[in-house]
Amino acid sequence: MDTIKHNFKGGTDPFSHTPVLYREVTDYIAFPERPLKLIDGTLGCGGHSSLILKNNRQAVLLGIDRDGDALERAAEALAFASERIQLCRGSYSNLKDLAAEAGWASADAVLLDIGVSSPQLDDFHRGFSYRENGPLDMRMDRRSPRTASRLLNKCTEEELAQIFRDYGEIKQSGKLARAIIARRDEQSWSETAELAELCTKVLGKPRKGAPPAPTLCFQALRIAVNDELGELEKGLEAAVDILAPGGILAVISFHSLEDRIVKNFFRHEATGCICPPGCPVCICTHKARLDILTKKPVTAQADEVKSNSRAACAKLRVARKI
Ligand SMILES: C[S@@+](CC[C@H](N)C(=O)[O-])C[C@H]1O[C@@H](n2cnc3c(N)ncnc32)[C@H](O)[C@@H]1O
Repeated sequence: MDTIKHNFKGGTDPFSHTPVLYREVTDYIAFPERPLKLIDGTLGCGGHSSLILKNNRQAVLLGIDRDGDALERAAEALAFASERIQLCRGSYSNLKDLAAEAGWASADAVLLDIGVSSPQLDDFHRGFSYRENGPLDMRMDRRSPRTASRLLNKCTEEELAQIFRDYGEIKQSGKLARAIIARRDEQSWSETAELAELCTKVLGKPRKGAPPAPTLCFQALRIAVNDELGELEKGLEAAVDILAPGGILAVISFHSLEDRIVKNFFRHEATGCICPPGCPVCICTHKARLDILTKKPVTAQADEVKSNSRAACAKLRVARKI
């Protein structure tokens, strides 16, 4: 693949976000320069979008995020291209409706860089991290009624165990759920430090190389609070629907649960007939809609990981609409 000028410089704002795999994303989406209608479904601080708008002067952007703070930051970062951008608050699973409202019938590229941003993680008032004590909130969209404390205080033991098992792959999910219920009979859940302490007490020290016990519990709750996997499944469908023929879908994921969904979706959409093996004639009418451009997920180069540790677990998969 030809390469283009990559001019990303890290921000000085303590709440800034460094876009991961920025060279690879820019190469796939911004090059060669041509008229380009880009939907960034996870605008964040506008890091990727900013690079694409700088590298392709014919690009126009519809930027979506469900976090109002993120949109404010992105508006500032993208002010240099204000006449080429439209920003809207909403979920990328709903991107077809959001695009229609913005007057877009189709797009040439859709980018999804899923998960949380550095500003969300770093602001302890948001409750995504346990490095400093904060409220058990974890909502990306603070208009939503579902917070982490609400789940911890209202879910049944079985529901909590399922969240920890399915979204955190925690082996002792039942034991953790039981301890959470026992504790809430005395005092309701409200703060991150209390939950982190209980996780360590119940789950113990991690095996060598494994993440600390609270990390997986916080990940599981965050995924449940924001329905992140449901959003991803719906968002991938919506993205393929809205792409024009030849359009590019690029998805960055940060853990195996997300990457599995993307991988399976790409495979399914790149397959023509999906009739059971041995079926004499095709009865499924399924048609391939995607060409997969990345046989294996693209991962960050060593220099990027060195300067941005978040890039270490990022995986990029890219496909072209047929
Ligand atoms: C990893 S950050 C994106 C960073 C961005 N690519 C950049 O370079 O600045 C993920 C962003 O996606 C947003 N987000 C996550 N799930 C979303 C969803 N379902 N709909 C809309 N935005 C979402 C989060 O609020 C967050 O701001």
